[in-house]
Amino acid sequence: MLRENRYIVGCTVHDIQPTLPQRAIPPTIERTGLFGGEGSCPLRIAVLSDIHANLEALEAVLEHLAPKRPDALWFLGDAVGYGGDPEPVVDWLRQIDPNHVVRGNHDKVVAGIEEPEGFSAIARDAALRTREMVSADGLAFLATLPQGPSTPKERFGICHGSWADEDYYIFYPDDAADMFDVMKGSVAFFGHTHRATVYANFEGATLEIPIQSGYPIILQKAARYVINPGSVGQPRDRDPRASYAMFDTESLQLAFFRVSYDIASAQQKIVKAGLPEINAARLSEGR
Ligand SMILES: [Fe+2]
Repeated sequence: MLRENRYIVGCTVHDIQPTLPQRAIPPTIERTGLFGGEGSCPLRIAVLSDIHANLEALEAVLEHLAPKRPDALWFLGDAVGYGGDPEPVVDWLRQIDPNHVVRGNHDKVVAGIEEPEGFSAIARDAALRTREMVSADGLAFLATLPQGPSTPKERFGICHGSWADEDYYIFYPDDAADMFDVMKGSVAFFGHTHRATVYANFEGATLEIPIQSGYPIILQKAARYVINPGSVGQPRDRDPRASYAMFDTESLQLAFFRVSYDIASAQQKIVKAGLPEINAARLSEGR
């Protein structure tokens, strides 16, 4: 059994999917607040990825995670590209421990480290327009973002695309199996696909683990895991809400959260900035 779903006493009621049967929720939930109580936070690391210059989504996520009192924040790349607020997102990223950050493919191109060869026309146009929107100082900072993979804590890694290639997409269990072959440690987080996912590797088999926002799972010590927290600023799993994860390296508890934000405002900024308008439309569709 690779997965153990359980309700954790104290979960804030708005973290619970309203479609789930209310009778399944322990009565203590409404009284205490899952991650919000003083000293009660069992998940200590906030994991964010693919903000893509969406300041509204980032601010909503930061407000949502603040009561959970994380000890650290790990960021998996793509701070910029697509969205209308690249400079404020770059400024926010300056506060994050660089040992807890890896760069994304859009960060590389916007910084001028690479040209957008291999990008779609939409991604290329957005990246080149974003270059014009970011200050010289901001571009210089983007160029300093570390190439993954990285190991912010022993046995726990981060990368943008995959462990072997920061530009590679992990869409399927076979892709994850390739990553398990080369990654160091027992748990690694990746981004790039903009889809919240967990893959587990146990006794040679790799499979995808079902997840649900607000319902923590407990990772098993006998297995290894690669985990995508989803995208803060441009989700592509048909849920337009911003996505992030919380993880506790001691208890191995992992939880995903979806957060509503002011999509209309983010869309208006994309159009006003002269970025490809498809990037505005897709935000409300989550794809
Ligand atoms: Fe991305």
